Amino acid sequence: METRAGDPGAFARFDLSRVDSPAFVVDAAKLRANLRILADVRDRAGIRMLSALKAFSMWSTAPIIGEYLDGVCTSGLWEARLAGEFYDGEIATYCAAYKAEDLDEILRLSDHVIFNTAMQIERFRPVIEAARARGDSFDIGLRVNPLHAEGDVPRYDPCAPHSRLGFPIDQLTDAHVDLIDGIHMHTLCEQDFEPLRRTWDVAFDWLEPWFGQFKWLNLGGGHHITRADYQRDELIAFLRDMREDTGAEIYMEPGEAVALDAGILTGTILDTHWNGMPVAVTDISATCHMPDVIEAPYRPAMLGEQVPDEIVDEGQGGAVRLGGPSCLAGDVIGDYRLPVPCEPGRRFAFLDQAHYSMVKTTTFNGVPLPSIWLWDSETDALECIRAFGYEDFRGRLS
Ligand SMILES: Cc1ncc(COP(=O)(O)O)c(C=O)c1O
Repeated sequence: METRAGDPGAFARFDLSRVDSPAFVVDAAKLRANLRILADVRDRAGIRMLSALKAFSMWSTAPIIGEYLDGVCTSGLWEARLAGEFYDGEIATYCAAYKAEDLDEILRLSDHVIFNTAMQIERFRPVIEAARARGDSFDIGLRVNPLHAEGDVPRYDPCAPHSRLGFPIDQLTDAHVDLIDGIHMHTLCEQDFEPLRRTWDVAFDWLEPWFGQFKWLNLGGGHHITRADYQRDELIAFLRDMREDTGAEIYMEPGEAVALDAGILTGTILDTHWNGMPVAVTDISATCHMPDVIEAPYRPAMLGEQVPDEIVDEGQGGAVRLGGPSCLAGDVIGDYRLPVPCEPGRRFAFLDQAHYSMVKTTTFNGVPLPSIWLWDSETDALECIRAFGYEDFRGRLS
């Protein structure tokens, strides 16, 4: 996959030696800039905008997110607890399948509880009724799969053939609609406006018989709204029409767009050698710290990477294969023309690492977790929010 982010922004002037290594550094000013864009779309379209915790749940930034958005969406009990503990506003929880023992607490914490199939709602009807009887206030949604694929990569396409995600829209009946307050759809990944419009064109025909009955329609995430070239005016006009056509409150729940280009992951070269090309081992591991590099796969952009026609010193201009300290042969981040000499102790950073990296880290091989720093590029204030130690590795094992 090609990353369409990777704008260094204020990180172009950040001195990497101000933080330890490896470390995530999140720019609060960039976060606020993204949130202002999302809040503006929300206000002009007259919709509700939630932040998806699965992408970015650095909860020390919850007060910033709460200043701009209407709440968060969560993926199950633990994220719902995190939301209840730290985040302001509404909580919308969707999980592909709930466990009976989790549901009571989820119903208590959440304003919207979204199920993946109508059968699950039927099965848990007694639990739902009991929660309402004890005074919990929530509404029930159903995630539908509009059976219209827009993704290039099946792994990131919830509408790929035989997908488990979402109730096939062609199976929806009056009896199902009677069970629910709202419809949820999450079908996109890092996409522009047009794929959303095409998806809604398909879903519209299926859902039209029930327009007027839905309290809300939630368009999920995958919308790259904060990217500079996203078609925001078209989106706003579309959302207004959608509200009018359906008579429902419209929700969006972007994750990546909240933290787009708002964080870096900085590391250090530990050792180098030659094996047909320069090779360097670093304290950043693809598998432990940026698993999407292997899973997607994609090549993260590097802060200050030299482009071939700007190379002045050919000695430093050749690409270096960068990999992590783990035993996995495939723990390779990519080939890079470094902005610094390729020698032990040198610092470098990958761009656009605030979302879907911090939330996915592991301590495989006993590789240390990156610390988490908050920087404000407007004031230059810098704070270490969290550093991890051996106890964090030990605590996950027994
Ligand atoms: C149900 C749901 N909502 C929201 C999101 C957030 O998507 P993104 O971070 O791509 O905007 C996802 C991502 O997988 C999702 O599954």
